[in-house]
Amino acid sequence: MKIGCPTEIKPQEFRVGITPSAAQEAVAHGHTVLIQTGAGVGAGFDDAAYTAAGAQIIGTADEVFASADMIVKVKEPQAKERKMLREGQLLFTYLHLAPDPEQTRDLLASGCTAIAYETVTDRNGGLPLLAPMSEVAGKLAPQMGAWTLQKANGGRGVLMGGVPGVGPAQVVVIGGGVVGTHAARVAAGMGADVTVLDRSLPRMRYLDDVFGSTFRTRYASQANIAEMITSADMVVGAVLIPGAAAPKLVSRADLATMKPGSVLVDVAIDQGGCFETSHATTHENPIYDVDGILHYCVANMPGAVARTSTIALGNATMPFMLALADKGWRQACTDDPHLLAGLNVHAGQLTYVAVGQALGMDVTAPEKLLKAA
Ligand SMILES: NC(=O)c1ccc[n+]([C@@H]2O[C@H](COP(=O)([O-])OP(=O)(O)OC[C@H]3O[C@@H](n4cnc5c(N)ncnc54)[C@H](O)[C@@H]3O)[C@@H](O)[C@H]2O)c1
Repeated sequence: MKIGCPTEIKPQEFRVGITPSAAQEAVAHGHTVLIQTGAGVGAGFDDAAYTAAGAQIIGTADEVFASADMIVKVKEPQAKERKMLREGQLLFTYLHLAPDPEQTRDLLASGCTAIAYETVTDRNGGLPLLAPMSEVAGKLAPQMGAWTLQKANGGRGVLMGGVPGVGPAQVVVIGGGVVGTHAARVAAGMGADVTVLDRSLPRMRYLDDVFGSTFRTRYASQANIAEMITSADMVVGAVLIPGAAAPKLVSRADLATMKPGSVLVDVAIDQGGCFETSHATTHENPIYDVDGILHYCVANMPGAVARTSTIALGNATMPFMLALADKGWRQACTDDPHLLAGLNVHAGQLTYVAVGQALGMDVTAPEKLLKAA
């Protein structure tokens, strides 16, 4: 198969869909890998690294799209890229179609087969191609929060780990899933005093078993959240209710009960945010102040560490990319129902129920398309 990887064109996106090591494995499987010149530079991979891996460097995105049987990317195809997709072509990338009718219509019109990273599942009910980015964002959250806490940035001027004779920062993490666990581990590693609040008792049992006294867990009742935020220097928002907007767990009125200069890091901002006063910010202008409380609400946190994020994403996507290239999408999805769960669009038909519900569009069961082979 010819596998093509164009340069990402969404503003501030520095990741790349195929790493040199993924390219090398695809070439070893007998495939041709076409990389647009400069595609990996933002993540620290120059053209020479791809050439050494056996890939071919191509001048323009038009040529990559025109030649490739499968396009592997990071972000959803932008309008200009969607015009270059064609019938029968396979697209493997993040799509997030539910809030994006325009993209959905364009993908349907193109006739391509689109498999979305974010809906591929695993045997534990997890989302293996979303998890690496949650791991990155979780680990970044205390790092960015600690920076925001510094006086020059408007924060309380509190050091995460304290020093001998001075207590550590109080960190509250709401949501103990992938983001929350990684945030809690890093905050605790920096020496902060950390409490994780969640509503899932099995999850809190797991955290307690695995992390012991590294951090505490508490049930995320309204009363407990209200109590914990009054003494917090940093609150990390890391909740997720799959397919739904994030619940608002801290209201504007609650801010008056918090210590001036304390910090809210709303990682759940990509689902609307879990603090009433959150709105999405960018890496250029990441923080703002509401009633003396600082907010860090960057919607694409992994972009700050594009190299780590690219490699982490590449590690997760590579086995699926190889299966798709080796077997073709129909056989690969027949063999692996978790990959089939990623199928969102095929030949003008929408195949993902939640997207159909969100957009009021008809959905074809993906299993039917396998039988049509
Ligand atoms: N901003 C970014 O750059 C970025 C990057 C990656 C992930 N995210 C977002 O971070 C959020 C968390 O992702 P995740 O991978 O950790 O999800 P996850 O499913 O692993 O964890 C979510 C946790 O929230 C808990 N939860 C749900 N409702 C709750 C409530 N009312 N109170 C307390 N806990 C509650 C769940 O029990 C679960 O443990 C998602 O919105 C995700 O999209 C953002």
